[in-house]
Amino acid sequence: MSFILVTGSSRGIGAAAKAELAARGIEVIGHQTREGDGGNIAADFTDPGAAQTLWDEALDRSDGDIAAVVNNAGLFDANPVERSDIEWLDAWEDTLRINLTAAAQLSRFAVRHWQSRDPGPDGVRGRLVHVASRAAYRGDSPAHWHYAAAKGGMIAMHKTIARAYAAGGILSFAITPGFTDTSMAGDYLDSRGGAGLLADIPLGRVATPEEIGRIITFCALDAPPSMTGAVIDANGASFVR
Ligand SMILES: NC(=O)c1ccc[n+]([C@@H]2O[C@H](COP(=O)([O-])OP(=O)(O)OC[C@H]3O[C@@H](n4cnc5c(N)ncnc54)[C@H](OP(=O)(O)O)[C@@H]3O)[C@@H](O)[C@H]2O)c1
Repeated sequence: MSFILVTGSSRGIGAAAKAELAARGIEVIGHQTREGDGGNIAADFTDPGAAQTLWDEALDRSDGDIAAVVNNAGLFDANPVERSDIEWLDAWEDTLRINLTAAAQLSRFAVRHWQSRDPGPDGVRGRLVHVASRAAYRGDSPAHWHYAAAKGGMIAMHKTIARAYAAGGILSFAITPGFTDTSMAGDYLDSRGGAGLLADIPLGRVATPEEIGRIITFCALDAPPSMTGAVIDANGASFVR
């Protein structure tokens, strides 16, 4: 039995991905910030050592057999430029650490883990799935420089990993959702004028967590190796490129 680690699976997109993977018979190792119900491993990514703790615990639970890692945990907190210098810098550091550095640490642990494993019959040793954002390409609101920078960094990291390790059977996929109907999107829609924002989405609605969960599941289980390095948009045609 192979295991898949999904970060930030307590709610929203991560919870939907966890349910979708479980429905496919996968043993999912979940994660959230603090101890709680549901068996998720607790690790607060504002702590530089938390990704290592999470990885060690996940390896332990899986008996050393993690087939894929989904870097989904993320924070979308406004950081207005009018804040004091130190408040602005603190918020920048937290967002970069949670949304990018922790994902980089986990990706590195996973790559090194897979490098020491034999490939499966399809030549694959392991899969990374990064949940980035449309903001990586389009930028974000004036209070979200840090969020867009972290997601842009995630896409650059993903492409680098895909190119570096494809020959060794280590695959990397990235997903760039637009607005998705979770608490994160609710705060954002409210702060940006609510339903009027939907006018910018030709599909006429935001994405559902289940839709993004299905794309995550596809990348973690089904995407053919030739797709490694791909970035999959899911934004109702609000940003086509
Ligand atoms: N919703 C959107 O519109 C949208 C659009 C584009 C991209 N995305 C991306 O999709 C991913 C999931 O978003 P979502 O909307 O499902 O978010 P969400 O509902 O707010 O859930 C965020 C998840 O990240 C975890 N997390 C937050 N801060 C953390 C920390 N300090 N340490 C460890 N984990 C932490 C949360 O754990 P706790 O429950 O323990 O707090 C939770 O499981 C994120 O990477 C986000 O940037 C979302």
